[in-house]
Amino acid sequence: MEKRGSFGTRLGIILATAGSAVGLGNVWRFPFMTGQNGGASFILVYLLFVLLLGIPGMLSEFIIGRHSQANAARAYGHMAGGKRLWRLVGMLGILTSTVILGFYAVVAGWCLQYLLASLMGSLNGDVAYVHDYFISFSSHPWKPCVWAVLFVLITHFVIVRGVQKGIERASKLLMPLLFVLLVTIVVASCLLPGAIDGIEFLLKPDFTKLNHSTLLEALGQAFFSLSLGTCCLCTYASYFSRDTNLLKSATQIALIDTGIAILAGLMIFPAAFSVGVKPDSGPSLIFITLPNVFQQAFGAMPVVGYVIGILFYALLVFAALTSTISMHEIGTAFFTEELRQPRRRAAWVLTLVCSVIAVFCSLSMGAVDGISLFGLSLMDFCDYITAQVMLPLGAFLTSLFVGWFVDQKLLFDEFTNQGTVSVSFFRAYQFAVRFIVPFCILLIFLHQFGVI
Ligand code: PHE
Repeated sequence: MEKRGSFGTRLGIILATAGSAVGLGNVWRFPFMTGQNGGASFILVYLLFVLLLGIPGMLSEFIIGRHSQANAARAYGHMAGGKRLWRLVGMLGILTSTVILGFYAVVAGWCLQYLLASLMGSLNGDVAYVHDYFISFSSHPWKPCVWAVLFVLITHFVIVRGVQKGIERASKLLMPLLFVLLVTIVVASCLLPGAIDGIEFLLKPDFTKLNHSTLLEALGQAFFSLSLGTCCLCTYASYFSRDTNLLKSATQIALIDTGIAILAGLMIFPAAFSVGVKPDSGPSLIFITLPNVFQQAFGAMPVVGYVIGILFYALLVFAALTSTISMHEIGTAFFTEELRQPRRRAAWVLTLVCSVIAVFCSLSMGAVDGISLFGLSLMDFCDYITAQVMLPLGAFLTSLFVGWFVDQKLLFDEFTNQGTVSVSFFRAYQFAVRFIVPFCILLIFLHQFGVI
């Protein structure tokens, strides 16, 4: 059997894990969710969820992964003292991340196409033109499929290089690059005339816009954005070193993730408001509403508009890649260790499965009729079922598991690195995983299914 990988440095740990968290969830999903749910008030609820549920949830996965140093299914089984039933929670996570990788690769593939199109200057035109461009591209029978599969393949080639040479190296390169691009566009966007309205929309809460669906969406978004409930964090933590401070790492990663989501809002809304575009157009925001926003906004300086457009899609591609790498790794680690296959072969299994899901998701966008489930296109169904059912369910079960089933001495030792760090926070964490996290998720679930 191959030697198990591990991250080489503390910076590598933070950048790789933050790379998993920071993705299209921040730059695509967060802005459109915020736009649809009334701006600042949505963000406040979101922040509350990150603090109350997100950080404890991340810690639980870190503890399970680092303690067991194994793939997700084995890690849960090991932590449960060999009780095989708990392996199922790990398997649920692996299934969830595989489905997410399938539909996520489709959106990531669109970003590749838009990067190329902005380089060639072919996104110039009026609103109707950009709208038709998106519709005809996304419902094309093979073009978006090719891009999606290409994206899975790029991910594959990073993964087969291993934990340190593949994942860690890619994250150390892509994350700083992403940050520089983001800040550049934020500055350009906030300097536009009328940008202040967009900033206000993002930062001034209007509580009349809050309702129960906002809560549910904010919860799903918090889980999705922190990569929680998929065992992704558990798998990455299995490559952490024994002296990594888990509380500090979880807090730093949550801060980076949230900071980048808010910066993404500051990149998009000021530019959108400056040209009078409404931010509530939903998932197509960055593909229909935005392509010509930069061109229009920098109308007096077309070169700037052109360059910013390119940087924007390059940023999306980098953000997506660090996340798809993490989703791929969960399944690859599982197949490598459970089927005792070389990493290379295990990675191909996952690449193949995800490519098939991606192709079907892509075709369900209009190319082929009838690829739908429960009245939703396969693409929307995968997004819904993962973000609003599977992720919260994974986090719920994980929380019950560590709060009530795992030996609490072991939990304490792992949380505090054998009593050497963060000791005074242990009780608060224990309270959160025993009561707050399961209770909040349960409440929202009951509400979602109409019980209360
Ligand atoms: N957190 C990633 C994002 O924000 C998505 C993701 C979900 C990654 C689940 C891994 C696992 O885009």
